[in-house]
Amino acid sequence: MTVILDGKQVAASVIDAVKTATASLETETGVRTGLAVVIVGDDPASHAYVGAKSRMAKECGFNSVQHTLPEETTQEDLAALVASLNADPSVHGILVQLPLPKHLKSDPIIQSILPEKDVDGLHVVNAGKLATGDLETGLISCTPAGSMLLVRQAHGTDLSGLNAVVIGRSNLFGKPMGQLLLNANATVTMAHSKTKNLAEVCARADILVAAVGRPEMVKASWVKPGATVIDVGINRIPAPERGEGKFRLVGDVAFAECAEIASVISPVPGGVGPMTIAMLMANTVIAAHRAAGQPAPKF
Ligand code: GUN
Repeated sequence: MTVILDGKQVAASVIDAVKTATASLETETGVRTGLAVVIVGDDPASHAYVGAKSRMAKECGFNSVQHTLPEETTQEDLAALVASLNADPSVHGILVQLPLPKHLKSDPIIQSILPEKDVDGLHVVNAGKLATGDLETGLISCTPAGSMLLVRQAHGTDLSGLNAVVIGRSNLFGKPMGQLLLNANATVTMAHSKTKNLAEVCARADILVAAVGRPEMVKASWVKPGATVIDVGINRIPAPERGEGKFRLVGDVAFAECAEIASVISPVPGGVGPMTIAMLMANTVIAAHRAAGQPAPKF
């Protein structure tokens, strides 16, 4: 029987732990965990994600502030907002939703966030800590951290002797995911759009993590029998069977056929997606504990 990982359930237990840690930090130190979420422009998908993040932050008991800036915001205006959030002691986490409108450069903005408030884990200090094996003092990018919790459901914390293949090499996901798997003792292959014989490379994976951004690209023949498959893709595809103009969400993995070969697989929706928001909340309450000089909770 294939195990279908329940991201909603794992995320709910992370959220429960975040709520407990948030409440006890406030009781013991008077510090209320604060998250600032910044969104620029009108992209509906980004607004939907940001709305979900802000709502969850409130549910966790955070002081949650959303800054919604118009499309025509300048680089200087956005930089000034980040500088003011950096200087605000009531803000422990800053998230600037990506992608930014085309006229804005995201990297200088992301790198201007104080590393200790960088709850996205995208600052070079946090990326560098992860790359050098320091998983204790930095902040780890939310989607890889959440994917790793799902891997842990299947394999525990020690992946010694297991081959892991990550498809996708982005700074937001693929690179940090590879580092986390390596840190857990897996033998890691980073595959990407220029990889030759991708299907064969994937078919050697005990743990296959797909973040390619192409709907249902990973086929059953790419999956080693008994493997664990983690699907990081979220793709909207037309679903005329649901009515005219309707869409449905699919991952980067052809779920039905791969589920017949894998031992463990994460679905879309309901797999990695809920984990990302949960780990953002986890990073924020960790940042608040550190700012208050308290030992940070572990997730
Ligand atoms: N856009 C899509 N995913 C993410 C994310 O994890 N963080 C940020 N800041 N923007 C995103």
